[in-house]
Amino acid sequence: MARLLITGGAGFIGSHTCVVLLDAGHDLTVLDDFSNSAPVALQRVAELAGVQLRSGSGSGRLQLIEGDIRDDGALNQLFATASAKGEPLSGVIHFAGLKAVGESVQDPLRYWDVNVNGTRALLAAMESHGCHTLVFSSSATLYGSPNQVPIPESAPVQPINPYGHTKAAVERMLHDLSAAAPDHWRIACLRYFNPVGAHPSGRIGEAPNGIPNNLFPYLCQVAVQRRPELSVFGGDWPTPDGTCIRDYIHVMDLADGHRAALETLVSEPPQVLTLNLGSGQGASVLEVIHAFEEASGRTIPFTISERRPGDAAVTVADPTAAWQRLSWRTQRSLAEICRDGWIWQQGNPEGYDLDAEAA
Ligand code: NAD
Ligand code: UFG
Repeated sequence: MARLLITGGAGFIGSHTCVVLLDAGHDLTVLDDFSNSAPVALQRVAELAGVQLRSGSGSGRLQLIEGDIRDDGALNQLFATASAKGEPLSGVIHFAGLKAVGESVQDPLRYWDVNVNGTRALLAAMESHGCHTLVFSSSATLYGSPNQVPIPESAPVQPINPYGHTKAAVERMLHDLSAAAPDHWRIACLRYFNPVGAHPSGRIGEAPNGIPNNLFPYLCQVAVQRRPELSVFGGDWPTPDGTCIRDYIHVMDLADGHRAALETLVSEPPQVLTLNLGSGQGASVLEVIHAFEEASGRTIPFTISERRPGDAAVTVADPTAAWQRLSWRTQRSLAEICRDGWIWQQGNPEGYDLDAEAA
């Protein structure tokens, strides 16, 4: 099996995808600067997949290189070293990036630098080393406030924050690159909806730094009494119970979607695939709270507060194209999302930070 480069592989979605790819027989090199993760996540990935984690120039099924995607020299060396060892990198799954909407408004240049300039550096290294297969982490955020729900991939790209603009810019860059060399590039832009949950073992999961921005990790932290209560942002939205509706996707389903996208890319002629990865099912904030209470047996204290600026009332994927093109669709329910998220949070109430394991 080919060796793949996984940028940002120690992060939330990357770590779960590494487990799925190792189980599928791929050898992996993870490049991560640990700006929003820790090496311990990869140790646990190794443990779950039954492989050894090797750092630096070592080889093996799961290799870790600490570095920044913006570092052209390090990228070139990484590709060159892999080729020299007879294990050329045949494809890249590109998770590395910054993802906090509010932070992107405060510090847009950093977002453009890491997300767009970082991806440009990665693509240049790929091109010069003859690696033309890429799965890119795009986002439903680029639909902004959608005019139609469920949202098809043909819906207008109209981001409403700098983070969304960086994702749209990278998609544009990928189309331009493919247009320049259509016989070479095999690219999948995967537009994730709301990834949540954890590996069912509870060994890896989402461990945000500081106060979580997103509903699910916040809810998990309220459940373990790290935070006193949840604020529900708005109870007067035009939805049946007045709270916003989202398409929550189990992170293991999302990980399976990456494997399916990669397999499709390598088995078909060069192309750019742009696909929503979502369940097609919407759940309101109150429905998520109640499902979590059911799964955990805990009561979640909450109050309804002001609407959060920039939120849309309803975003739900039309997942038809992913089913048609990848034969992939979500398998796991909201109840399973809550069950697995709760197992993770109970076993790791402070995230990875307080782990005794050495990096
Ligand atoms: P995450 O922050 O957990 O993972 C990102 C990883 O990239 C981290 O391990 C971080 O340390 C690493 N990283 C950041 N900047 C880097 C750099 N310059 N060089 C090398 N590594 C770097 O985030 P995630 O939730 O796993 O998201 C992965 C990708 O999916 C991101 O591109 C994100 O924008 C996208 N995405 C996430 C969501 C979501 O809700 N989680 C939704 C849509 C899209
Ligand atoms: N919410 C609350 N209280 C909170 C946090 C969130 O009520 O403490 C509500 C929000 O108002 C929203 C819903 O829960 O209605 C979901 O909010 P999240 O912040 O969890 O997720 P978003 O839909 O805003 O955005 C997420 C990621 C984006 C990604 C998008 C894709 O943050 O990066 O999903 O749809 F692009």
